[in-house]
Amino acid sequence: MISIRNLTKIYDKGRTIALNKVDLDVEDGEFVSIMGTSGSGKSTLLNMIGGLDVPNEGTVDVMGENLSKMNLSRYRRETVGFVFQLHNLVPNLTCVENVELPLFGSARSSEMKSRAMDLLKAVGLDQYSNKHPNKLSGGQMQRVAIARALVNNPKIILADEPTGQLDSENSDLIMDLLQEKQKETNAALIVVTHDFEIAKRAERIIKIRDGQIEES
Ligand SMILES: Nc1ncnc2c1ncn2[C@@H]1O[C@H](COP(=O)(O)OP(=O)(O)O)[C@@H](O)[C@H]1O
Ligand SMILES: [Mg+2]
Repeated sequence: MISIRNLTKIYDKGRTIALNKVDLDVEDGEFVSIMGTSGSGKSTLLNMIGGLDVPNEGTVDVMGENLSKMNLSRYRRETVGFVFQLHNLVPNLTCVENVELPLFGSARSSEMKSRAMDLLKAVGLDQYSNKHPNKLSGGQMQRVAIARALVNNPKIILADEPTGQLDSENSDLIMDLLQEKQKETNAALIVVTHDFEIAKRAERIIKIRDGQIEES
């Protein structure tokens, strides 16, 4: 599914090597967690897989195709679901409008609304569909962000510290939702976390240090 070779990312004209010759493979239906101290390169790696950033050297192949040759905005829209630590919801859109966002340009508006409502229901927030995010708790906002990330049935689900701001009850709920959807669609799920309880839900824990994979 995902095949990464020699991936290198350099910032500040060579002063920071955020990723240093990383090799990694992730299969369909596999759940991998990534751990490492702050600044070790976790977000850089996830952003590169998600087509949010491009490497200086090395390659990311997805389903046999090299990301550098793909239309990245289309790849992000159709193949990837991204959940961030801070939900990144659009404040002046309602919850259901936030969830509909990834469907613009690909689905009819009636279909968009009903798919977005299905996802809000799946995360237990259909009754909040017409509320704005500032009316929700942190855990609820993150559930809306998960609905938005999953509305396209992505083949790759990427989550960068998705539970970083949440208590353990909400963290478990968020992880249950991600894993349930992942099983349903046989997606690859990659979760960056500082929390070992979260990390060990995965089949594989990858430790990253100074831009390199330590062990897996
Ligand atoms: N846009 C950027 N410009 C300059 N340096 C960056 C940028 N993004 C990340 N870095 C640096 O790259 C290293 C890895 O960062 P990051 O991937 O965000 O780490 P993590 O997510 O593990 O905390 C850090 O030293 C960080 O300061
Ligand atoms: Mg990070």
